[in-house]
Amino acid sequence: MVTESFLTLPQLELPSKGGSITVTAPSNIALVKYWGKSQGQIPRNASISFTLSNCFTKTTLGFTPFSEQSKAGQEMVNDLDDSNFEVFVDGLSKPDFAPKIATFFNRIEAYLPWIRSFQWRIDTENTFPHGSGIASSASGFAALAGALMELENSWSLDPLPPELRAQKTSFLARLGSGSASRSVLGPLMYWGTHPALPASSDLFACILDQEVHAVFIDYKDTILLVDQGEKEVSSTLGHNLMHDHPFANQRFDQAQDNLGKLLAVLACGDTHEFCRIVETEALSLHAMMMTSNPSYLLMKPNTLAIIEKVRIFRRANNVPVCFTLDAGANVHLLYPAKFTPQVMPWIQNELSGHCQAGQFIEDQVGQGVKKV
Ligand code: PMV
Repeated sequence: MVTESFLTLPQLELPSKGGSITVTAPSNIALVKYWGKSQGQIPRNASISFTLSNCFTKTTLGFTPFSEQSKAGQEMVNDLDDSNFEVFVDGLSKPDFAPKIATFFNRIEAYLPWIRSFQWRIDTENTFPHGSGIASSASGFAALAGALMELENSWSLDPLPPELRAQKTSFLARLGSGSASRSVLGPLMYWGTHPALPASSDLFACILDQEVHAVFIDYKDTILLVDQGEKEVSSTLGHNLMHDHPFANQRFDQAQDNLGKLLAVLACGDTHEFCRIVETEALSLHAMMMTSNPSYLLMKPNTLAIIEKVRIFRRANNVPVCFTLDAGANVHLLYPAKFTPQVMPWIQNELSGHCQAGQFIEDQVGQGVKKV
């Protein structure tokens, strides 16, 4: 089994001195959504996403071997706790983040036992504005997992082949945040077992290596920042509400079905069918929130105003632009790059007025984790 192959640990030559590694990892936007999970971050349905490019996290991971520190003679700690991490966000010390990092490191420790031999310093920054309502957990955990795997690879006497290494990076990122598993490579990543994807796994995401029509290779994602506040209901709570949800099973079936249909669309380049599936997925995700117990609503009046305008514009101009939503009020506009000259003036003139401070972010599909 794959988990067992990740538990087979490579032979490493650990450094006697401290050092650091820097990586970047992008955010991603799901086309078929993951919403609902079982114990251990196992998704209840398969999902697929575009990896993004401009919205990314840059993380520098600094390590100091315990033997080099004042904790004289100490070679390893049994359990990592907050005191083993210093966390800096945009250069500012954030001790509040240390417990979350400690939880993640303890979760992945079975697969990277050497992490107990070091004191850690994490310096992280996002290219998207802090508190913009864009989740930093996908890019943040993908960056951490990517940095740790860079270290393991550089110290390994027998490095993992690239495919297995990407799988292990995604596997580790998943244990931080499910959607982070899909930020490791690009431009399209799927995660969760699906009958049409023989290589699919609940444990890690894979790059979509079937034929993908050229129109999707440079797709645009313009993110309209409708609400830049903190999320009112966390994703963790939202996933949990799917446990007793009256429509959960229908939703999981719908997502599996939509993913099957989307695979055909990605191959043939039918952008209008793409719009139909992607918008259905976004509204189904939010329908789950609106019909859970307790119910909640993350869309804002401006989210709905934009959705209406997107549908009118698409019909009137025959331009295959569609919307999708994450677990928040912001709207992602997806469209083929060749339509930018038509879409961009419309965004500036008609849609930016629905955004907080008129702000939006221009992004496009990208390639995943990179060493800096
Ligand atoms: O990765 P999490 O646990 O934050 O879940 C995120 C789920 C959505 O972003 C709403 C959908 C998805 O598939 O990315």
